[in-house]
Amino acid sequence: VAAEKGGYEHFMLKEIFEQPKALRDTLAGRLNHDHVVLQEVDLTPKEVALFNKVAIVACGTAYHAGLIGKGLIEHWAKIPVEVDIASEFRYRAPLIDDKTLVVVISQSGETADTLAALRESKKKGARVIAITNVVGSSVAREAHDVIHTWAGPEIAVASTKAYTTQIEGMILLALYLTQAKGTMPKEWITEIISELGKIPDKAEIILKEGAERIKTLARYFEEVGSAFFIGRGLDWAVAQEGSLKLKEISYIHAEAYASGELKHGTLALITEDTPIIALATQRDLYEKTVSNVIEVKARDAKVIGFTFEGNTDFHKSVNEIFYIPETVNELAPLLTVIPLQLLSYYVSVARGNDVDKPRNLAKSVTVE
Ligand code: G6P
Repeated sequence: VAAEKGGYEHFMLKEIFEQPKALRDTLAGRLNHDHVVLQEVDLTPKEVALFNKVAIVACGTAYHAGLIGKGLIEHWAKIPVEVDIASEFRYRAPLIDDKTLVVVISQSGETADTLAALRESKKKGARVIAITNVVGSSVAREAHDVIHTWAGPEIAVASTKAYTTQIEGMILLALYLTQAKGTMPKEWITEIISELGKIPDKAEIILKEGAERIKTLARYFEEVGSAFFIGRGLDWAVAQEGSLKLKEISYIHAEAYASGELKHGTLALITEDTPIIALATQRDLYEKTVSNVIEVKARDAKVIGFTFEGNTDFHKSVNEIFYIPETVNELAPLLTVIPLQLLSYYVSVARGNDVDKPRNLAKSVTVE
């Protein structure tokens, strides 16, 4: 087993560090200067034009990748998107038909609830695309089209490289739909594609230059009973994944909150013993996020901020700061989540938990 871990203490750490490669492999052959190529998806522009809704369905971490997908597809391809947890989707009588594009996301391709949602969607006449990491899995076999993520085997129960490659899958699909619909200028697509190509190198920089820093920040969590993750827009989606990671392996109660909603409840729970992870990458929401951070700081909370390198005034509003290499707003989640994964990892190690096999959890849940 030690050999399989390639010198890392845990599979989770190995998998976090494999992300630059996983991200590169998932983009390979799919970026082409001003358009994306998805060989496994067979939709004509005419068919894309007929979709009046996209329904994204998944569980756990994959659901969080779906939240990012919603933001991108609505913003770029201008198609309304719903995102559902698979076990909810099935029982809420979702309004889907042959004008719906259903996207199921599943690392394993075997999650029972996700598979059932896929089958239900097909029965209702929807077109189903799967984003999955396992070639030949049930989800891959049963969907009409597949976008494979090339993360390689993921052993640790807490998902890391599968998540970031699922986000890439969503970005590629969003661009594919956008180019079919012609809803964004060509120069803009060219820019996003060029920025996307640079993401794996930037992920590598975070891992090389940031891991030690995150390890020192983990000390804020050694004694606490709960923590909050806040952000707006895509940062809120990443906050939800960051909070799930912390719960899963550190057993600290963690909650993600949309920054603007804090004052409607969560603020009552904030004391000097609840560390706050504040994500502030989205440039159009930056000022508002900063004012929310000032609100929690005023309640004596310790705040750890994550923002782009260019936001040089954010450190004034927080106790600790971690800088993310610059990229366009829409691609920020691919980078922001990496230090959050590392943070959960180091907190879990410091607390002496079984990082790769957290209590009560399974890698793949094949019962409903
Ligand atoms: C389990 C795992 C999670 C995962 C979820 C969905 O709960 O512990 O890490 O996100 O299943 O799994 P899937 O294979 O469908 O992505």
